[in-house]
Amino acid sequence: MAIDDTHGLGYERVDDDPNASVLLTTMDNTANWAATRRLRSWERTELGLASGQRLLDVGCGLGEAALALADDLGDDGEVVGVDVSAEMLRVARSRADGARCRVRFTVGDACSLAEPDDSFDVVRSERTLQWLADPTTAVAEMARVVRRGGRVSLIDTDWSTFAIDVGDDDLAAMVRNAMRTERGRPSNIGRRLHDLVRAAGLVPVATADATHTWTAWNPDETPAPDGCFSMQSLADDLVAIDQLAPAERDRFVSKIHQAARRDQFSMNLTMYAVVAVRPTP
Ligand SMILES: C[S@@+](CC[C@H](N)C(=O)[O-])C[C@H]1O[C@@H](n2cnc3c(N)ncnc32)[C@H](O)[C@@H]1O
Repeated sequence: MAIDDTHGLGYERVDDDPNASVLLTTMDNTANWAATRRLRSWERTELGLASGQRLLDVGCGLGEAALALADDLGDDGEVVGVDVSAEMLRVARSRADGARCRVRFTVGDACSLAEPDDSFDVVRSERTLQWLADPTTAVAEMARVVRRGGRVSLIDTDWSTFAIDVGDDDLAAMVRNAMRTERGRPSNIGRRLHDLVRAAGLVPVATADATHTWTAWNPDETPAPDGCFSMQSLADDLVAIDQLAPAERDRFVSKIHQAARRDQFSMNLTMYAVVAVRPTP
């Protein structure tokens, strides 16, 4: 059966992407990964939010992580979500009905936050730094708007950890090597979160990681493994960087699809997290 394959994923400019609806659905899918749920639950414990506090989520996407934390802020707290995508925020607003505290979703750029200095108790950002041209400036902005003694939480993917096993060592090595090199975006930022918060003058107090494993996928039902790009898109990427000959593209995709059909398919991806404090003088 032919499946419509539109699953290259890119979150730099969601609103201009003809694939925007897939990008939004993918956010819901990845929010349901056990690894994502584990890191968000860990973060919640580490943040220790209190009634009346103000929380900022930078690159909040569909807003569900920020809205879940709203429960901890009591009636007098406030959640602010900033994202460059109006489309993401349209969905986030539609999900904010019934939130316990005030909620504001605003279009804005992570690298230039339109928020005053020292104005939040907690700032979080999840899987957004990897899409920014200048993540260092974005973290400096988070450090600027959090109050002294307040906390900054970063969660991000490290695509250099991405591995695929379909019973073909050469294919696995090719994908692994290609993923190790960053191309045009900080795709391996997960491993640098600790350094980033330190560079912004924050003090890391806790770190965590979690690995998502895909073990099953029917390529005849969905064009891509749950929350991932398609194998066609992966092949296109490998061709673009001269890791795969154009003539090999279809064979590469078909080899992975065939392996998935006979249940010989797994992929792994690790996400990292850090919680840091802005020191008091
Ligand atoms: C992969 S999604 C993550 C969304 C959400 N944080 C989550 O974990 O579900 C990346 C988000 O970053 C947003 N984004 C990309 N560039 C941005 C920028 N310069 N400033 C603010 N948000 C940005 C995208 O629109 C998208 O919503």
